[in-house]
Amino acid sequence: MNRHALCKYLRSCFFVFTVLLAPFYAAANIIPKPTNMALGEGHFSLTHHSQISYNHNTAKPVAEQLARFLRAPTGYQLPVTQANNTIKQTIAFKIVDLPLNKESYQLIVKQDFIEVKARTATGLFWAMQSLRQLLPNEIESRMPINRQSWLIPSVEIEDQPRFSYRGMHLDVSRHFFDVAFVKRYIDWLAMHKLNTFQWHLTDDQGWRIAIDAYPKLTKIGGTRPHTVVGHTYDYKPLFDNQPVSGFYTKAQIKEVIEYARARHIEVIPEIDIPGHSSAIFAAYPELSCHQQPVSVQPQFGIFEDVLCPREDVFEFLAQVYKEVAELFPSQYIHIGGDEVIKKQWLASPIVKQLMQQHNLSTPEQVQSYFIKRVAKIVQGLDKKVIGWDEILEGGVADDALIMSWRGTEGGIEAAKMGHQVIMSPYQYIYFDAYQSRNLDEPKAIHGLTRLKDVYQYDPQPSHLTDQQQRYIIGAQGALWTEYIKTPRHAEYMLFPRLSALAETLWSNKANKSWSDYSQHRLPNLLKRYQQMQINTANSSYKPIISSEVKDNELVAKITTDIAGPTIYYTLDGSEPTLKSAQYQQPIVITKHSQLRARSYIDSQAQLVGDARLTLSPHLAIGKKITLKNPAAGDSAVTLQDGKFAYDQFYSADDYAIFYHSDLDAVIDFDTPTLIKQVSLGYNSGRHRQLHPPTKIQVLGSDDQQNWQNLATITQPQGPMSVLSLAPTKVRYLKVIAINAKQSDDIQIPKLPLYIDELAVN
Ligand code: ACM
Repeated sequence: MNRHALCKYLRSCFFVFTVLLAPFYAAANIIPKPTNMALGEGHFSLTHHSQISYNHNTAKPVAEQLARFLRAPTGYQLPVTQANNTIKQTIAFKIVDLPLNKESYQLIVKQDFIEVKARTATGLFWAMQSLRQLLPNEIESRMPINRQSWLIPSVEIEDQPRFSYRGMHLDVSRHFFDVAFVKRYIDWLAMHKLNTFQWHLTDDQGWRIAIDAYPKLTKIGGTRPHTVVGHTYDYKPLFDNQPVSGFYTKAQIKEVIEYARARHIEVIPEIDIPGHSSAIFAAYPELSCHQQPVSVQPQFGIFEDVLCPREDVFEFLAQVYKEVAELFPSQYIHIGGDEVIKKQWLASPIVKQLMQQHNLSTPEQVQSYFIKRVAKIVQGLDKKVIGWDEILEGGVADDALIMSWRGTEGGIEAAKMGHQVIMSPYQYIYFDAYQSRNLDEPKAIHGLTRLKDVYQYDPQPSHLTDQQQRYIIGAQGALWTEYIKTPRHAEYMLFPRLSALAETLWSNKANKSWSDYSQHRLPNLLKRYQQMQINTANSSYKPIISSEVKDNELVAKITTDIAGPTIYYTLDGSEPTLKSAQYQQPIVITKHSQLRARSYIDSQAQLVGDARLTLSPHLAIGKKITLKNPAAGDSAVTLQDGKFAYDQFYSADDYAIFYHSDLDAVIDFDTPTLIKQVSLGYNSGRHRQLHPPTKIQVLGSDDQQNWQNLATITQPQGPMSVLSLAPTKVRYLKVIAINAKQSDDIQIPKLPLYIDELAVN
């Protein structure tokens, strides 16, 4: 009986497809999306009769990798043999002499055979990743699944990467991740067709690579006795009692490099100098200018200790980079160069002398001198130098590649100068930032990098010329691990943002579509991740609450980045359930309310998220406010937008920030107005303790000359203070909040006063 007759017999093809075949049948849901793909009729059926062939020894390892990959879920021991012709029931890997990009491939799936063609083994390997995603998600199981066959849809694919550099970074200093985890990490990059792994091996909080000539780097610099609990910039930081320790031996590093090589991934080591070097000074204090003892840092952030631009220091670095260069076959070594505080250089007679000797007039030029010396060392080892974009300051070393992290400006400047650029702007592709503002997100460093932001980021700014754009060879995502202590947490931060980055880096720009990615292919990939037992974030399905003041009304809106979920909400602070109100349209807030929302995802049959926003339609909204001292942020808007920040994660945008002064605000109500209560918000609700003011004072006046004290509190507690007044009519209201500790001594001030809302009722 042929297929049509069978359909007739069962009366409904639809029934056959949806009920009988669908569970075994993968649609062509490949991420990153291939350049060209045409679906055909029918499918290839993988069974224990299938075979794998290769036409050339170069293709043999990939053929064997596929056989190994398939063995666990299918239980099949598929033979891998050499053959020039494509035989029936065979998956044939072929190295072909076509004028293709070295990473591109063709993949043809017919009912009788599968043919994979590429000029290199790398192309074949990426083809295998596509083939893997054409198989049902259960192929990711590492336990055998009892099935008669595994169906692969007929398809013809021609595919090639948009960028040659497709990277992902991992910080193993702040928290140490063992070899087994690093190998899994490499597997994940390979699955997403990323070809570069940057291993951030050293930082203030731990030195993680064995250097024979300097054993104390790992013996002393590889351990810190304790770590800050909570956020490093908390008002009162606490410390745990748990040492963090660990480093990789040279044998382990070789094992990882070989593992990555077999997956067509280049491993770039980063040895970060001359800042971020506290772990070096813990071991060898003589290498700083002050030569005083320094600890491996138990806190995060940036520190003043810096390598001294002295000959013995350059000799030390020459030896370190020599050992690193011998170990890593990569064409690149990353030398860091970020976040250097120059205070110690400016205080050092040695540096003063150096500046005179070399005619250097600024600390940036000292940094440039330092980096150029190190670049020469590394280039002398036959390696190309990569540095963070700070190495542009004071004059960039010849031929250095710039990794642009403080935004895209450094990368743009470097591209205009003709330097190769790797984009890694923190706003878009740092995966240590929050994925949503829902309170069920785990603690993150700060910032908000939604999946959609990652997806929509384009590494080549459109205002650059074609020539300048060509200097941008790709981009790299970063996973900094200050607040990521475990593999499960790392997975959560990485997935699914890694898939969005992969599509940005691999897929043709014209092929990118947020709706196609998020509506069709991502839901399937999330199921695949589940098969892989990856702890994946659902953040893009969670509610996003926003509010605006419109015609003197406070209006709240709830959306989701991925369209589809039903949103349930409450206005009384209780947890939304499936019985709560369904969100249909913007909500007018008529009284002080805590709006809470959750999303129901049909395909996962679960409620996700915990979005909260406290809104208050108070008397000062829309009134003129005058600040005696300037604040960072759009103060007048932030202070009177009706939104409190205490049930949000810390985000600088929520606050008027007073770095060096007190809040001293006057609100003009236009006419005498009855005032009963003033509320001041100054803290975030989760994961970060900001600095409360030491005193709050409220005064009233009718003429701005004579002020009457209405209320004062000292040492306020909690995330906000509510000051009740004897009901008073005033035209002008003055609110003063005293900044506890003003600080301007380092690049990221630790002790500003944050005020999120000044509510008057
Ligand atoms: C960096 O994030 N400091 C490169």
